[in-house]
Amino acid sequence: MDFKKYREDFNILKENKIIYFDNAASSLKPRQVIEGMNQYYENYPVNIHRGIHKLSMKASIIFEETREKVASFINCNPDEVVFSQNSTDAINLVMYSLYNSDYFKKDDEIIISILEHHANLVPWLFLSKKLGLKLKFVDIKEDFTLDLEDFKEKLSEKTKLVAITHVSNTTGTVLPIKKIISLSKKYGCLTLIDASQSVPHMRIDFKDLDCDFLCFTGHKMLGPTGIGCLISKKENLEKFQAFKFGGDMIKNVSTTEFSTNNVPYKFEAGTPNISGVFGLSSAIDYLTSIGLDNIYKQDKIFLRYALEKIKDIKNIELFNPLDENLQGPILLFRLKGIDSSDLSAILDDMSNIATRAGVHCAEPIVTRFDKNGLSRASFYFYNTFEEIDKFISSLKAVDEKINK
Ligand SMILES: Cc1ncc(COP(=O)(O)O)c(C=O)c1O
Repeated sequence: MDFKKYREDFNILKENKIIYFDNAASSLKPRQVIEGMNQYYENYPVNIHRGIHKLSMKASIIFEETREKVASFINCNPDEVVFSQNSTDAINLVMYSLYNSDYFKKDDEIIISILEHHANLVPWLFLSKKLGLKLKFVDIKEDFTLDLEDFKEKLSEKTKLVAITHVSNTTGTVLPIKKIISLSKKYGCLTLIDASQSVPHMRIDFKDLDCDFLCFTGHKMLGPTGIGCLISKKENLEKFQAFKFGGDMIKNVSTTEFSTNNVPYKFEAGTPNISGVFGLSSAIDYLTSIGLDNIYKQDKIFLRYALEKIKDIKNIELFNPLDENLQGPILLFRLKGIDSSDLSAILDDMSNIATRAGVHCAEPIVTRFDKNGLSRASFYFYNTFEEIDKFISSLKAVDEKINK
């Protein structure tokens, strides 16, 4: 499949200004997504769900059609799609909603993994401290894969929530979420999957996974910033209390009472990010037109190529499973003798290569490997073998200079 043709849709790539290997942080946005967003501002720049006039009706239709598009993209029902700002917002929504519903009792337990992004760690840490819950971390094995035995040992009658990432944004580890969800179900606890790093790269089937909650974020999947989704089983949206209160999430209001709107609107208070939803719609169209299975295959090809080439660099240490079936297209590494921030700056200055440095919003795991942080390069379908070659030769040049 010719992936190079897609580069034409990305202005930054078209002009060859940059080698973009920071895709795990945020993807680039194709022209179609920018046009999708602009379509809102140019043609229907009004509020939704409120006006009876044509403009509002049209904007509302596109907004709700996008909900249906998300539902078929992720295989759930449209009323199980809640638009959020991003994954962080979606996880906070679940956390506050469970809190408002008195779901947890003191000494209940929450299980997450040591690989979590802060977005799926800090909300649960906050809640644990507030309510006297126990937050347990499933560890990884020496090969950077999840220790499923450790998970089984930690799971018990006391577990009320298992909140786990699908793909780590640092080690790239793909977690065995189907197994985790089915084991969790035996104890009747809720399950939340942070799919921020998987939805842009592979087909995700909410019904098949059978988890309670799943979230993802638009800006990592070609979409705009400020838009994401919480996918939740309808029964949970109905059962649990709202998180934010105000317009659109209510049915009736008096000076003494209010009743909440039907789901999912109960969880969408206030004017949403309408242009973001329009942009997300275009992003889903774009990804679907390429095919998630094709993207997944291309990720593997790039990963295999990069893993093979990086072996040539003497003083590189990798912190990944090093198995394309157990890992997303992410390299987490250290080059001996240089701080990750300095290396990132040099790669940028020397070769226009954008990488990420530091603790990657996953401080517990990254500082375990190196208290000063690590370097990360992450690929997407619009990258090229030539870009990987340039990355490798640049790393080699830095290595030869500092480690001679
Ligand atoms: C695994 C994972 N979860 C959550 C997030 C948070 O995404 P956002 O900042 O869009 O909420 C990220 C972003 O890097 C991530 O990689």
